[in-house]
Amino acid sequence: MEAKTSRMSDGNDPRPGARELSPDSALELAVIVPTFNEAGNVEELVRRLDACLDGRRWEVIFVDDDSTDGTADAVRAIGLTDSRVRCLQRIGRRGLSSACIEGMLATAAPLVAVMDGDLQHDEALLPRMMAKFADPAVDIVVGSRYVDGGGVGDWDSQRVFISRAATWLARRLTKVSLSDPMSGFFMLRRPILLALAPGLSGIGFKILLDILSTAKTPLRVRELGFQFRTRHAGESKLSSAVAFEYLAMLVEKTFGAYIPARFVMFSVVGGLGVFVHMAVLYGLFRVLEQNFGLAQTVATLVAMTFNFALNNLLTYRDRQLRGWRLLTGWLSFCLACSVGAIANIGVAVYLFEDFDTLWIWSGLAGVLVGAVWNYAVTSVYTWKARR
Ligand code: GDD
Ligand code: MN
Repeated sequence: MEAKTSRMSDGNDPRPGARELSPDSALELAVIVPTFNEAGNVEELVRRLDACLDGRRWEVIFVDDDSTDGTADAVRAIGLTDSRVRCLQRIGRRGLSSACIEGMLATAAPLVAVMDGDLQHDEALLPRMMAKFADPAVDIVVGSRYVDGGGVGDWDSQRVFISRAATWLARRLTKVSLSDPMSGFFMLRRPILLALAPGLSGIGFKILLDILSTAKTPLRVRELGFQFRTRHAGESKLSSAVAFEYLAMLVEKTFGAYIPARFVMFSVVGGLGVFVHMAVLYGLFRVLEQNFGLAQTVATLVAMTFNFALNNLLTYRDRQLRGWRLLTGWLSFCLACSVGAIANIGVAVYLFEDFDTLWIWSGLAGVLVGAVWNYAVTSVYTWKARR
């Protein structure tokens, strides 16, 4: 990351140690805790951090995605009496990885740690992680469930299998060799994060994997085992959408330089839409024996609505539309796609008739132009990023 070295305000060495961790800096460590509906865990987590980091200069930043259970208020209430406790509240946004990145960018501490807010991660590891940085040749320390002293607690066999499969896939695709690249518990030097930040995908759950696979020169990792505990209060946010986002992140890490992962997701959804379209068309035209024009029109509307819903659920999970914005979003999506269809047909016919292009290439070129148009327009108008 040559060009990006200049972004760092901390001297010229991209991996500084001594100066950063000087004994007179007011902060040694920032613990970043992404939260979504973790109100019942905040107080206990701060209490435990206070106990295990006794004598250290630390702060904790809760990055909350506008939880509905008052998590942010709970954090600020503690922050009133304890200035080491801070809250970064994001409105209209979702995403574990992006929350961690923004939290890490919001501190001056030379060391940053990421830790879950549900007390599944063993806080006793934090001082041991810090100690590892006495060695200037250490870039990042990872809490691992799969080395000596580590474990997954009472996970069911299905969850163990999924975790192992995801780990295997990650190793294959990103060349990251680590016993537990899926871990959400780690500590690194802030200047390294700063240098990598512009290249991070920020999609989904796997922030550690994102960091490790973005680094051009492999980061020097140490692993420390810990027992993954059961969640304290509240419930897990892991869902099937998270699995989809995980694959999208791997796609971005593998091909991201050429095709944006979101476009790949958008196209996969579009491909599924074709099946929906054909199924509806078949039902109306062949089974119910309706007029073909009517059947095709209804099939188009159903497929567009299906695509809109699925994109809102998966592709744009981080800025999902809700409430009345679903209606305006749906309208703008259908409008954009209708124009996309006209562009599609125009290009295909032009290539076919004026250039004698083979029907299959003409057809595909039309589909590609339509897809790029739909993606570009809906990303700006339907799912515009909020400022
Ligand atoms: N800000 C924010 N935004 N925080 C979120 C979001 C979100 O969209 N989704 C989840 N979180 C927070 C949760 O509130 C919790 O503090 C933490 O991220 C982990 O979420 P869990 O729902 O408890 O995830 P998990 O226990 O299934 O997954 C954990 O274990 C995995 C290893 O199997 C996490 O540590 C993963 O990062 C880890 O890979
Ligand atoms: Mn959890």
